[in-house]
Amino acid sequence: MNSTPSWSRSPSPYAPARPQLSTLKSLARLLPYARPALKAMALSTLAAGVATGCGLVFPLVIGAIIDGPVTRRDTTGLVWWGLALLSLGIGEAGLFFVRRIIIARPAMAVEARMRDDLYAKLQRLPVSFHDRWPAGQLLSRAISDLGTIRRFVSFAFIFLIVNILTFVIGVGILLSLSWALGLVVAALALPLMAVSFVFESKYRVLSRRTQDQVGDLATMVEESVLGVRILKAFGQSRHFAREFLRQASALRETELAKARVLAWLWAAIVALPEVALGIALLLGIREVAAGTLTAGLLVSFFGVAMTLRWPVDSIGWLLAISNETAAATERFYEVMDSPETIRSPERPSRIAPATVGDARGRLAFRDVHFAFADAPGEKVLRGVDLELAPGETVALVGATGSGKTALTALVNRLHDITSGTIELDGVDIRSLALDDLRRRVAVAFEEPILFSASARENVLIGLGGGAREGENAIGAGGVGPDTQAAIDRALRVAQADFVHGLPWGLDTRIGEQGLSLSGGQRQRLALARAIVGRPEVLVLDDPLSALDIHTEAAVERALRSVLATTTSLVIAHRASTVMLADRVALLADGRIAAIGTHSELMATVPAYRALLASDMYRASGDEPRVDAPDTDCRKEASR
Ligand SMILES: Nc1ncnc2c1ncn2[C@@H]1O[C@H](COP(=O)(O)OP(=O)(O)OP(=O)(O)O)[C@@H](O)[C@H]1O
Ligand SMILES: [Mg+2]
Repeated sequence: MNSTPSWSRSPSPYAPARPQLSTLKSLARLLPYARPALKAMALSTLAAGVATGCGLVFPLVIGAIIDGPVTRRDTTGLVWWGLALLSLGIGEAGLFFVRRIIIARPAMAVEARMRDDLYAKLQRLPVSFHDRWPAGQLLSRAISDLGTIRRFVSFAFIFLIVNILTFVIGVGILLSLSWALGLVVAALALPLMAVSFVFESKYRVLSRRTQDQVGDLATMVEESVLGVRILKAFGQSRHFAREFLRQASALRETELAKARVLAWLWAAIVALPEVALGIALLLGIREVAAGTLTAGLLVSFFGVAMTLRWPVDSIGWLLAISNETAAATERFYEVMDSPETIRSPERPSRIAPATVGDARGRLAFRDVHFAFADAPGEKVLRGVDLELAPGETVALVGATGSGKTALTALVNRLHDITSGTIELDGVDIRSLALDDLRRRVAVAFEEPILFSASARENVLIGLGGGAREGENAIGAGGVGPDTQAAIDRALRVAQADFVHGLPWGLDTRIGEQGLSLSGGQRQRLALARAIVGRPEVLVLDDPLSALDIHTEAAVERALRSVLATTTSLVIAHRASTVMLADRVALLADGRIAAIGTHSELMATVPAYRALLASDMYRASGDEPRVDAPDTDCRKEASR
């Protein structure tokens, strides 16, 4: 029976709806990561504050020069005034330099730590999470969102504080210089802030939309690059290009809407202070003419007012960065808050080491029920009972979509069963530490996915935590003689000796996803990866489908002789594979409908006979001989 997966509509609702937090609450969630940088942020704020202070004092000194030596036409103290101005200028420049140096490293550390945590979390999250989330959304979070957060920590946060303080102090100075003129400037700054807040809320919605659209676009690029062969082969490149253009246009529209909001904001930001300064200038000139204000004070006033331009101008822009940061933080935590449904137990059980004559690797499914997390109502398995003795090879057959792959994904807990138990040597697999379980159980998947690393590194991945000290599964570092021997054996068993003939042998880099190899070569390398760690249980999801039956038989023979003590569950799509197993289990309607040797099932189970005679099992061209006894079939297959 086929269960229907819950296909999601596009744009995919991969993240569950969450209550929208206020900007401040979202930003507060940065605190655990920003904490180590707080000291540097405070020092950097202090440096920027003092530098801006120098900028505020500068016009006051000029005003004093005008009202003092210039008015008195007395040049005696001028050198000292000049030196005072020079040191203010040097102080301002030096402090801005120091500010940036102080914060650069800690801010990058915040970004790096968040990125490390995100990556580690993505590794821990269950497969069902990755089934749901498009890769581009994760990519855009790991790259552009974290960049936005770094800019906030190193820049926007600091200047938000410094500029607001500068504004308050500056207005205070203006009021003390001339309270009437000061009031005019301050009064016009207030509507400016109100305008900023109105635009801020609009901008926030748009910036979140942009970030999501960038993620969708990244997904599209990723998929069409990986699937470029299919697009070309089916002449769909144009169709995809059109779809890409549509998504890119949607992003452009959002960006344009953002630009419009910013344009209005900037218009207000520029116009209002100009109006304020114009009015103040007219009033000031009248006061100077009336003798109630000195020329020096008027110059100081405008000097300070001009210094306030940047703090006032930048507020809207800094608020925009803060908003983007709040959205980026939300997007980051959407991933970080996702539950790790599959994890090691607090106190893991241990399987006792094997004693002499007591083989390990007994695998038992007991009343196993299973439904995928995103289709909880559709049970794929409904009471599977199956026991594999140590060293036994059981082939699993069933119609397409009957749940064979789903069943294999349960053994090393890529998915967790819904009810029932799976036991390894009498211990519930959920009570074992995950890495212990996954060291004992190796899987070769339906799709032989390889990494863009050397052939050796691809095989070494199968050793997992078993690689020796100083040896790396992926990355630099050679391997010791024992590990190399294990690799050579695995390659031999998997009939993957072809790698020695590659241009640089085992060091040859396999192209992205192994696309530089043939399908059968990929499968054999993936099989070598599965067996290199000498697992107790080997689960093979139709791993030899791309091999001709002679090679398949050779692999099977080698597997049997070398891994005599390994229990194997082999999903078979070909009669030739089935005939090499000790027993065959038929999966139908979510249960094991029949189990026995191939010939027993052939003789007694019509459904089995029908399945093996069906197109699916005949497609490979090696139709089983219905009446042939088991051993004959095996000879037939390997001939
Ligand atoms: N991630 C998923 N979410 C929801 N449903 C899924 C998911 N993966 C598979 N399914 C559904 O579960 C059912 C069993 O799929 P499974 O891949 O186990 O079939 P199979 O027996 O391995 O088929 P085949 O012989 O074609 O490989 C199918 O109906 C499939 O559509
Ligand atoms: Mg399958």
